[in-house]
Amino acid sequence: MNLIEAIEQRHSVRSYLLQPLDDETAEQLNEVIRECNEEGGLHIQLVRNDPSAFSSGLAKYGQFSNVTDYIALIGKKSSDLEEKAGYYGEKIVLAAQRLGLNTCWVALTFRKNPDAYTVSAGEKLVMVIAVGHGAVQGVPHKSKEAEKLAELKADDPEWYLRGIACAIKAPTAMNQQKFRISRKGNTVSIRSGLGIHTKTDTGIVRYHFEIGAGKENFEWE
Ligand SMILES: Cc1cc2nc3c(=O)[nH]c(=O)nc-3n(C[C@H](O)[C@H](O)[C@H](O)COP(=O)(O)O)c2cc1C
Repeated sequence: MNLIEAIEQRHSVRSYLLQPLDDETAEQLNEVIRECNEEGGLHIQLVRNDPSAFSSGLAKYGQFSNVTDYIALIGKKSSDLEEKAGYYGEKIVLAAQRLGLNTCWVALTFRKNPDAYTVSAGEKLVMVIAVGHGAVQGVPHKSKEAEKLAELKADDPEWYLRGIACAIKAPTAMNQQKFRISRKGNTVSIRSGLGIHTKTDTGIVRYHFEIGAGKENFEWE
């Protein structure tokens, strides 16, 4: 499964089999997490066997079942932490999909358990991502029309359209899709609108756009 296929097959999954990650799969995921931490200067951690985070009333309200493993997105407090958590978190999400796992980004409907991960001085837990063997595969989200999410012109190059196609499939908080992508020549910009967690959404969308467009074809503003 390549990354484009992973984008197509990924949907939020909230219902899991009672089958925690095995050691080999966890190690493969940890390898990706280590790379992301190194590149992004983050402190992301894979938490295994902590059902408490997803057994509170809040998680049930969010319709989660059998979540035992999750990824804690942690990093130094800074103005770009949320966006970086989005970008690298989605890199881990798509890697997990390629390993045959399912995921769901979770900002609200879980209970923080500080004993399960390490938040060092000056750091913050941004949010978590549930990960495991899905009882279902999820369904594609309803999307706003491409024209609402991106500036489109008659002479748009193929790479730009491929980038938009992947951006549209990105998960966003409450499926709000409050972003707008535009292009001047080979320079692309992404603006986030008002809403909750839009900075994290922007990081996620940025990663999807790069996969579709190919980083060699453009630069970010
Ligand atoms: C930043 C962010 C935060 C999210 N927080 C939650 C949450 O607290 N609870 C939940 O059930 N889903 C949460 N989601 C999942 C979204 O509802 C989901 O991604 C969106 O509806 C699009 O569906 P899809 O992921 O299947 O494409 C979150 C997604 C993102 C990107």
